Amino acid sequence: MTLTTAPRGTYDIMPNQALAWQWLEKNIREVFLLYGYGEIRTPIFEHTELFQRGIGETTDIVEKEMYTFTDKGGRSITLRPEGTASVVRAYIEHKLYGQAPVAKLYYLGPMFRQERPQAGRFRQFHQFGVELIGDESPVADAEVILLAHDLYRRLGLTDLEIHLNSVGCPHCRQEYKRVLTSMLKAAAGELCPTCRVRLDRNPLRLLDCKNAACQGILSRVPPIQNYLCTDCRHHFDQVVALLETVNVKYELSPRLVRGLDYYFRTVFEILNKDLGAQNALCGGGRYDGLVEECGGPAVPGVGFASGIERVLTTLEQRGKLPEFSNSPNLYLIPLGEQLSAVAFSLATTLRRAGYIVELGNGRKSLKSQLKTAHKSGAALAVIIGEDEWQAREVTFKKMDDGSQKRIAVADLATEIVKLVHPSVGTSKMGKGSQERSSVDDLIDTLQKELAMVNHLVVPLTNCTNKEE
Ligand code: HAM
Repeated sequence: MTLTTAPRGTYDIMPNQALAWQWLEKNIREVFLLYGYGEIRTPIFEHTELFQRGIGETTDIVEKEMYTFTDKGGRSITLRPEGTASVVRAYIEHKLYGQAPVAKLYYLGPMFRQERPQAGRFRQFHQFGVELIGDESPVADAEVILLAHDLYRRLGLTDLEIHLNSVGCPHCRQEYKRVLTSMLKAAAGELCPTCRVRLDRNPLRLLDCKNAACQGILSRVPPIQNYLCTDCRHHFDQVVALLETVNVKYELSPRLVRGLDYYFRTVFEILNKDLGAQNALCGGGRYDGLVEECGGPAVPGVGFASGIERVLTTLEQRGKLPEFSNSPNLYLIPLGEQLSAVAFSLATTLRRAGYIVELGNGRKSLKSQLKTAHKSGAALAVIIGEDEWQAREVTFKKMDDGSQKRIAVADLATEIVKLVHPSVGTSKMGKGSQERSSVDDLIDTLQKELAMVNHLVVPLTNCTNKEE
């Protein structure tokens, strides 16, 4: 352990990386809004029992991966390893079933699993996801799959594979489990140690074992599709038919079972080959018994969750991440401490108008401040020198070609608006100012506020105002 390194499987998101996160989160929120989902924010920790009951005692997550601790009140607490159980808990706690027939909730935030870290797999990772609770129809399943697919496409990802399966209901699964167990018990000696343990406890999970020997044995096992009851078969056929009506391609994956116990009928994953072993961008499915299992009424549900890190990695690999910049629009360079107050006031006015403004250090030389201005990537530098200020002028320098000119403070607003657009949208321009609706309004407001700068800062400086 070291004080200067983040814990294994975790990482820092630095300001230049955070821009891509913000962009992605904005897109996610917009698409969720299009589909009618409202955001829910649940705690980062819950009572351990919620995950044990919800996700299933014999799953990898609950058996091996949860960050669980006893709090000072002696309660067993777990950092959330996923979002569905928490959303279902909140749905029951707030009696959302009594408010509307369907609840459409989305979430976005950190999750925690103590897995072996590798590319695309972290111990603190971030998921966004939706839960559509209260609709048992296949349309809901198809809509959730389509939502995930639409979102990836909007982000610029095209080469996607939707893997689809049905794990049936407890009724048809029982018969399949019986067949599976008896076939696999005959070959138990050839199975990997994990599968041997799972054989009695959770035989369906054997289906997605990655071990080559187990895969060989499993290839002889009939698919669960052969055992679906009439209702489950009908439901699955409709989900597939709905995807076809909107021309969304899918692959049937008879061995897809997913690692959480709450699934019922539809399960799906959207994959991206470039991601390697951890290639699932998202996973989801229907979970009709979960609300009841967690202490609520018998209400159906369907949803998905996607890893933000995996989406960002895929976008980067495919060259689909836009260029982001938070470089300042303007860099203000006061020459001498006395003029720092002028620059400070000017910066405030410009920031209120939506410009990203960096303020130089008046104690530093022009050369040193210009160097910092260059490094910052600012489009324009405004140099405020003593002589110039006495004449109520500043030097205006375009950073890309180095050209500069002296201009009157009275013309500053027009010059700035001509050359740079405010980076940040503002609806109000500071106290007493009006809403900006056009460039003219912006110039007008800036001019008024700059006149105040001109007037206000005089007593703070040694400069004498020529007009006085
Ligand atoms: P999951 O398959 O466990 O499902 O996780 C969903 C997605 O989260 C994965 O496809 C992957 O993109 C991301 N993910 C999972 N674990 C990690 C990790 N250790 N590091 C990085 N990314 C990871 C669920 O969590 C279900 N709650 C999905 C769901 C919602 N089903 C119905 N509703």
